[in-house]
Amino acid sequence: GRRVVVTGAASGIGHAVTARLLDLGAVVHTLDRNEPTLPVDRHVPVDLADRASIDAALAALDDRYDVLLNVAGVPGTAPSDVVMRVNTFAVRHLSEAFLDRLDEGGSVVVVSSTAGFGWPERLDTIKELLATDTYEDAAAWWSRNPQEGNAYNFSKEASTVYVMTMGLAFRELGLRINAVLPGPVETPILADFEESMGKDILDGVRELLGGHATAEDIADAVLFLASDDARWVNGHALIVDGGVSGSVLTGLV
Ligand code: NAI
Repeated sequence: GRRVVVTGAASGIGHAVTARLLDLGAVVHTLDRNEPTLPVDRHVPVDLADRASIDAALAALDDRYDVLLNVAGVPGTAPSDVVMRVNTFAVRHLSEAFLDRLDEGGSVVVVSSTAGFGWPERLDTIKELLATDTYEDAAAWWSRNPQEGNAYNFSKEASTVYVMTMGLAFRELGLRINAVLPGPVETPILADFEESMGKDILDGVRELLGGHATAEDIADAVLFLASDDARWVNGHALIVDGGVSGSVLTGLV
């Protein structure tokens, strides 16, 4: 079986991805602050807000894998520095560490968000952020460079741009990196989104679609990007939201 590392496997989308992988006979190693409820091959507890904790977790993993799935994330109700650390810097730190650990044909998938599709407007700021080594300094970066809106949107814009900028670097090593941008998904984090984004927006989306995505709807898109069927898809941000973003971007809603 393929050898896969999944972050955020203890809940929601990460749990669904892990369940699918175990069904497919993959060897699954998980990183999360909480213990997954599924019978994974190895779980390494980690605090993704803390670089030293990630490095310790990397030391507890094996040297070679086929796939890294960065699924873990925190909502905008968490402090801004934690949001930036977990949603942007941990994704970057782990993905970069896996450049050396993935076998040829391997790939990374990052779960970003449609909350991050506004990146073109802040591209210069995001590139500046990604060019600096600001993991430890994430809170300070945020206060030096206050951004409009909450840290969640910005953290997801940055992780989306990170994926897009890394496509060729991965390609050079025979690897790929892609992002999935889900719209609202029925997982425990949704209650926090109601608080940070407002219930009206989420209710509006639910009404347009007749419901929110399930964790499995997103897991299947993640696994498609990780599979050989997506072998020429690289540096791509795949919106998986039932169609809402298209209408928003073209001004239909
Ligand atoms: P969830 O809250 O059910 O799962 C998140 C997982 O990440 C949990 O297992 C949690 O323990 C882990 N995690 C969080 N902070 C951590 C830390 N500091 N160290 C270690 N593990 C940590 O949420 P869900 O919905 O499964 O979210 C997965 C990803 O999908 C996140 O990146 C989220 O931003 C993204 N997303 C979710 C949407 C939704 O509506 N549910 C919409 C768009 C994106």
